[in-house]
Amino acid sequence: MDQTPAPATSAMTKGQPLPLVAVLATGGTIAGVQASATSSSYVAGSITVEQLMASVPQLAGLARLRTEQIANVGSQNMTHAVWRALAARVSALEADPDVQGVVVTHGTDTLEETAFFLGLTVPASKPLVLVGAMRPATALSADGPANLYAAVALARHASAKARGPLVIMNGDIHTAREVQKIAASGLNAFGSPNGGRIGVMVGIEPLFHGQPPQTPSAFEHFDLAALGPAPQWPRVAIVYAHADLQADVIDALAALYDGLVLAGVGDGNATDAALHALKRASGQGVAVVRASRTGSGYVGRGAEIDDGAAGFIAAGELSAQKARVLLMLGLTRTRDPGRLQALFDNR
Ligand code: SIN
Repeated sequence: MDQTPAPATSAMTKGQPLPLVAVLATGGTIAGVQASATSSSYVAGSITVEQLMASVPQLAGLARLRTEQIANVGSQNMTHAVWRALAARVSALEADPDVQGVVVTHGTDTLEETAFFLGLTVPASKPLVLVGAMRPATALSADGPANLYAAVALARHASAKARGPLVIMNGDIHTAREVQKIAASGLNAFGSPNGGRIGVMVGIEPLFHGQPPQTPSAFEHFDLAALGPAPQWPRVAIVYAHADLQADVIDALAALYDGLVLAGVGDGNATDAALHALKRASGQGVAVVRASRTGSGYVGRGAEIDDGAAGFIAAGELSAQKARVLLMLGLTRTRDPGRLQALFDNR
């Protein structure tokens, strides 16, 4: 990727000040540090946003930057409280007429969940780009600087608007709805298994493969203020299906949680024992969503399981981890399986 300071491009007009891009940092490997540049172990969320920016001086040729440290954690420790604070800051920056776009730096492990949450809770009237790295900031050939450079280039670009939150990794642009971390290691760790990436960066210009959809977020918008404080949000757990899955784990979770998402085998299926336990949970008022552990494809109603009779909700194309987010937010409005299903069907 071309990392030389940018000449005038379609993202800015000659003689005009560079666009203002806000960078909100939350930690992750992109801010990770090793004991030595060749060490395979490191601590995520170690350097500050100022240090991260200073490592990419070429950013000064792309945009004026305003930075904020929202958190500094490995994203395996991302919390709903951080999500709430982040969504509030993104919303405020979107309302600021001086800001052209927003970048969120994030660990890659739960990046797709945060992106999806922001898509459901933030208006996204301006470009909103999430970015991470697979190698720590101190590694030989760290990918963070190039990814960050591409994220800022994308966030200042008008064509990145109205697509909901975008994720850029390794030069590929994904939507929050589709993107998944699909590999535990390697630089090419992100994909959009159902629809495919929506574009690529060509130097500092995004090349999108299509026009933005008419409705940027296919799902309903959830008002942050109406959600209340994060500790009061409905609790939703994920049950991972496998051969010989027994009822006891589901019975135990059903006593503790408001909702359960089945990361089911195939098209959201599970053992008879597990399905009976989930049906029992649904009868007791626990919302039950069926998703698939396969990583792609569509979980529809009624293919192998009578969802209507069981009171289940089918996740469609959403992964279990994204279905958990939508169910949690949906449960702030209703416990009715029909209304919850309508939220999942809203595309
Ligand atoms: C994390 O998610 O914070 C650690 C892994 C990564 O960022 O790649």
